[in-house]
Amino acid sequence: MSLLEAVRASITRLEGAYAFVAQSVEEPGTLVCARKGSPLVVGHGEGESFVASDLQAVIGRTRQVDFLNDDEVAFIRPGEIRVLDADGQTVERAPQTVTWNRIDIQKGGHKHFMHKEIFEQPRAVIDSIQDTYDPGQASFFYIDEALTLEQLAGFKRCYLVACGTAYHACMIGKTYIENLARVPAEFTYASEFRYCDPIVDEETLMVVVSQSGETADTLAAMREGRRRGATALAIVNVPGSTIAREADSVLFTHAGPEIGVASTKAFTTQLVVLYQLAVQMGRATGHLGAADTLLRLHSLLRVPNQMEEIFACEEKIKLIAREFHRMRCFLFLGRGPNFPIALEGALKLKEISYLHAEGYAAGEMKHGPIALVDDNMLVLGLVPQGEMAAKMISNLQEVRARDGKVVAIVERGVTVPEDIADDVIEVPEADSLILPMLMVLPLQLLAYHVADHLGTDIDQPRNLAKSVTVE
Ligand code: M6R
Repeated sequence: MSLLEAVRASITRLEGAYAFVAQSVEEPGTLVCARKGSPLVVGHGEGESFVASDLQAVIGRTRQVDFLNDDEVAFIRPGEIRVLDADGQTVERAPQTVTWNRIDIQKGGHKHFMHKEIFEQPRAVIDSIQDTYDPGQASFFYIDEALTLEQLAGFKRCYLVACGTAYHACMIGKTYIENLARVPAEFTYASEFRYCDPIVDEETLMVVVSQSGETADTLAAMREGRRRGATALAIVNVPGSTIAREADSVLFTHAGPEIGVASTKAFTTQLVVLYQLAVQMGRATGHLGAADTLLRLHSLLRVPNQMEEIFACEEKIKLIAREFHRMRCFLFLGRGPNFPIALEGALKLKEISYLHAEGYAAGEMKHGPIALVDDNMLVLGLVPQGEMAAKMISNLQEVRARDGKVVAIVERGVTVPEDIADDVIEVPEADSLILPMLMVLPLQLLAYHVADHLGTDIDQPRNLAKSVTVE
C-alpha cells in the first residue's frame, strides 16, 4: 500500500476523536493527514505547506488555509495539496484567506499575551460593533445576514450552551435575551446538555458560544440540539472552526487571535455580540422600538472608552494584588448580571494563579460560604448602583465583621463606608446590562497581577489547554 492508501484503510478502523499526520520512510517528502472530531488545518504557503491543530500555529507563515472536515484526508507533497473525502474522491475546495496576521500573534511589548489581550479589549469591542449597525433600519445588519428579523421573531425560546468562560457569557446572554426581547432563555454547560434531556425543538434558537469553535463538548451539544430540531446560531471567534462551519448560522466575535489560555477579550466580545443579538431579537419581537434600539446602541458604543478609563487603575490593582496574593482563599460575590462576573473573576484567578477561588451569588453567602470567612480570606464584591448597592454593601459588612478582607469593585457613584473595604476600585457608570462588560476588567487585571507576583506560567497554566478538543 502507498502511505495514502494505508492511512485511508487505517482510519476506517479507528474509534474516537483524532487528528494526525503520517509520514513514511518509503515516501520521503509526503505527508498524509486526517481528522475526526479534533481540528486540523492545512496552510498553503509559498512553496511550503503546513499542518497544524490550530489556526494560530500557521498564520505567522500563511493566511491561506483549509480546514479539513471529519473523515477527509489530505495528501501533501512538494507543489501539491490534495484533499480526499471518505470515498476517496478529490474534494474541490479553494483555501480560505484569514484576516488575522503575524502582528496579532506577537506580544507587542507586553510581558504576557494575557496582558496584551486584556488591553486589546477596547479595540476588540469596537471591531465587534462597528459597521454592523444600520441606523436607517435600526437593525444590526450582520445579524440580519445570519438570521432575518422574521426568523428571529419565530423562535419561542433560546437555549444557550458553552463551556468555561463562554458559559459565563451565556449566563449573561440569558439576561440580555429575556430583558431586551422577552423571549424565555435557558442556559447550561455544554458538557451537561446531552445528559439533561433538554427541551429543544424546531421553535428553539440554540445559541452556541465558543472562542475556539472547537470545544468538543460544545460541538457535541450543538449537534445534539440540531438533531432535536433546533436552529444553531454560533458565536465564535476563530474563522473556519468546526462549530462555525457546522452551525446553521454564525456571528463572529472580532477579538482577533486569543493566545493566552485565560480567556479575556473573547469573553467581552461574546458579551457584545450577545447584547446585539438580544437587541435585534427585541426588534424582531417588537419589545424594542427604534428609539430604544438606538439608546441601547449608544450605551454599547461608550464601552471602549469606559474600558480605557479602567486601565488607568492598573497601578492600584497591582498594589492590591501584591497586598493580597498570599491569602488562603478568595470569594467573589455578585448579584444579577454581575453574578456570572463573580464566577468569571474566580475562574480567572484560579486558572492562572492556582489559588482557591469561588464565585457566589451574594445572597447565598449566608447559606454556607460565610462559614469560611476569616482573616485569611479576601472577598471581592461587585457593587452596582441602585437597589443592589445596599444589599451588596451589607454582604461586605458581614464579611468585615468576621475579620475577612474586602475589596469592593464599585460602579462610580456608589460610596462604600471606609471601615468596610480595605480597597475600592471604581468602574464608570453604565446601563445595568452593560456594566458586566466593565466589571470584569479589574478582575482580569487582578488575576493577572496576582499570578505575576506568584510567578506562574500565565499564558500556559499547568494542566490546561487553549482548546479542549476532548470530552
Ligand atoms: O474555546 P471555547 O470558548 O469553547 O473554550 C471554552 C473554555 O474551555 C474556556 O473558556 C476556558 O474556560 C478558558 N480557559 C477560561 O479562561
